[in-house]
Amino acid sequence: MAVEWLMGNRLVGFSRKKAMSHQQAVLRRKQAFQGYEMILVTGGSGFIGSNFVLDWLCQSDDPVINLDKLTYAGNLENLASLQGNTRHTFIRGDIGDATLVSSLLNEHKPRAIINFAAESHVDRSIHGPDEFIQTNIVGTFRLLETVRGYWSGLNVETKQSFRFLHVSTDEVYGSLDKGESAFSETRRYEPNSPYSASKAASDHLVRAYHHTYGLPVLTTNCSNNYGPYHFPEKLIPLMIVNALAGKPLPVYGDGLQIRDWLYVIDHCSAIRRVLEAGRVGEVYNIGGCNEKPNIEIVHTVCALLDELRPRTDGRSYRGQIAHVADRPGHDRRYAIDASKIEHELGWKPAETFETGIRKTVQWYLDNQSWVSNVQSGAYRTWVEKNDQGRV
Ligand code: NAD
Ligand code: TYD
Repeated sequence: MAVEWLMGNRLVGFSRKKAMSHQQAVLRRKQAFQGYEMILVTGGSGFIGSNFVLDWLCQSDDPVINLDKLTYAGNLENLASLQGNTRHTFIRGDIGDATLVSSLLNEHKPRAIINFAAESHVDRSIHGPDEFIQTNIVGTFRLLETVRGYWSGLNVETKQSFRFLHVSTDEVYGSLDKGESAFSETRRYEPNSPYSASKAASDHLVRAYHHTYGLPVLTTNCSNNYGPYHFPEKLIPLMIVNALAGKPLPVYGDGLQIRDWLYVIDHCSAIRRVLEAGRVGEVYNIGGCNEKPNIEIVHTVCALLDELRPRTDGRSYRGQIAHVADRPGHDRRYAIDASKIEHELGWKPAETFETGIRKTVQWYLDNQSWVSNVQSGAYRTWVEKNDQGRV
């Protein structure tokens, strides 16, 4: 592993002769790796995926292929700032399309795949689970099969360094009682919604592909994200958007259900760290150590809006809160024990909830046209405006 001996462009701590042979090893490695620096991101036009792609291109030189089906949740406008950026290639397609994925892999030869693509909204999974089974289970299975075919044909070194990172959720662990310990990586899977059950199934497939075929996989299970480009069907963006529109703020049941909240850019940095240094076959839980009841989240959003964009009648946005019927099978509490990623990989979130939520509310205030394009459906035609779907 000669690369680890390079600091900056200097070789350190070796005799001249030893350094020469290490330099040759580095060169050989570089030659072997030529054309393999690309990463392939699936679902890179959704909420977390687009934040990841934008962040990745700032933090790394490695180009990105972004494969996304552009369901209702995929929005190319999230990546508008990348127009003309030759390090980003967008491909519209399904992770389950083996012919397409196989040709992309053979053409671009990625060194890693980060799988964000999924149906992700619990309420939608309750009303129509089919798409969740199709993409999250069948799609992940087909993707794994196609990737296995590609990976099997790589040379020994590239095969060893290749990674398939599967992005999953804390919801696979089910619901915690008050006072119960936070989810660790060894916690039993007890998914309760069609969404979490489909993600749990995909996690199991990823695990099996490592144990059975040796595919070098990594799995991350993260808590609730929030931040820019969050589709306004999820709690935080929905509350911001409805509040500004003078609409009711629907709180399910008593609003005392607890989630752990993580700013999306912190999730992105955790994924980069796991990709870089995570142990193959391992699972890493990612969380923000920010357990909060939903009603407190809604109150915080209202207070920030009262400060940053007060209502014209001088009243608080809190007056718009409306308790509505609870979600069927609603999980009461999620909490993440993130000590493994912290101790093993030295990752910690950079944002507190207070800093992250303020940034988020400000982002929605500053990006009203993004919101109105989502609400009007105009975001769905964005792809047609852009060079046959390639951004
Ligand atoms: P999202 O719904 O905003 O985005 C999903 C993206 O995947 C969209 O761009 C969509 O077009 C694309 N997609 C869907 N089906 C596809 C298919 N068959 N082929 C290719 N692309 C497809 O979701 P998100 O909130 O960004 O979540 C991304 C991932 O992170 C998901 O796997 C989700 O389970 C996981 N996750 C989300 C959260 C959260 O709080 N949002 C927390 C933990 C884990
Ligand atoms: P959501 O953002 O849908 O994420 P998840 O269900 O994956 O945790 O919901 C977060 C919490 O907020 C969850 O307990 C359900 C609740 N909720 C509401 O009370 N009202 C709403 O309108 C929405 C969308 C969610």
